[in-house]
Amino acid sequence: MKSKIYITRKLPDYIIKKYEEKYEITMWNQAETPVPRDVLLKEVADADALFSTLSEEINDELFEVGKNLKVVSNLAVGFDNIDLKAAHKYGVPVTNTPDVLTETTADLTFALLMATARRLIEGSKCIEENKWENWAPFMLAGTDVHHKTIGIVGMGRIGEAVAKRAKGFNMNIIYHNRSRKADFEIAVEADYYDFDELIEEADFVVSLLPLTNETKEKFNKAVFKKMKNSAIFINVSRGGVVNEGDLYNALVSEEIRAAGLDVFADEPIQNDHPLVSLDNVVALPHIGSASVETREKMINLCFDNIDAVLSGKKPLTEI
Ligand code: GLV
Repeated sequence: MKSKIYITRKLPDYIIKKYEEKYEITMWNQAETPVPRDVLLKEVADADALFSTLSEEINDELFEVGKNLKVVSNLAVGFDNIDLKAAHKYGVPVTNTPDVLTETTADLTFALLMATARRLIEGSKCIEENKWENWAPFMLAGTDVHHKTIGIVGMGRIGEAVAKRAKGFNMNIIYHNRSRKADFEIAVEADYYDFDELIEEADFVVSLLPLTNETKEKFNKAVFKKMKNSAIFINVSRGGVVNEGDLYNALVSEEIRAAGLDVFADEPIQNDHPLVSLDNVVALPHIGSASVETREKMINLCFDNIDAVLSGKKPLTEI
């Protein structure tokens, strides 16, 4: 009998086809809407492997029902949706998708930084709304990126890839991380700063922090207050690392200049979210790793992890 893999989103047939001969594959029937919890719990009851996304909470309740589960393969590098203690308790390895999305997410981070600094979305809206009447010296004048100081908070693989891009723009690179990275510091001429020093010094504060109990709402009123009034805050990690009310107030009271946000505390957000009402916010719907090439690589890695475990081997990228 074939082992059953349950996938929590509809994936394209051309990808699934490759695995159907070997596995019984059952999928939630929609690509853009998460599987309802009751359906998920029913499906994992007889599944050998769960292919999940960041929309599902993988916790005690799920492992309790999924008695046959041998692996959970999560389509993301972040894993704050997974209770690792519970996984450990039930002896189920959990995998994520590091490396394959690093460069793509760094591209998006830099694109968001530039779009925010140079007011690209406002410029595009200006034409869409037929408001471009004349050229004017300071019309939509933003702020420079080159030769400014970028402060990267959370220096993992994506942070390093962002720093390389910043170096190409002749930026001064400073970073904060739990541990220092000597080789990286030399390679991109980056300086290690304490968190408080970094937020006071940086023109662009870029959050690449994973969401944990320690990082929850790390960017709050006191932190925004310490930033330069000209600072631009970029978040591409998890919305939960920011107190969104405090960020809103900091933007409205011009304590900081602007924010570029790919992630929000409670996703998905709608256009009535207070931050979206601000012209100096560029908001994106969590698309950091969303290139076709990278999403295919992430999906293949999820399957490779499942295949390894179900074939009695070690997973490739266990958390
Ligand atoms: C996306 O946010 C991821 O963690 O891969």
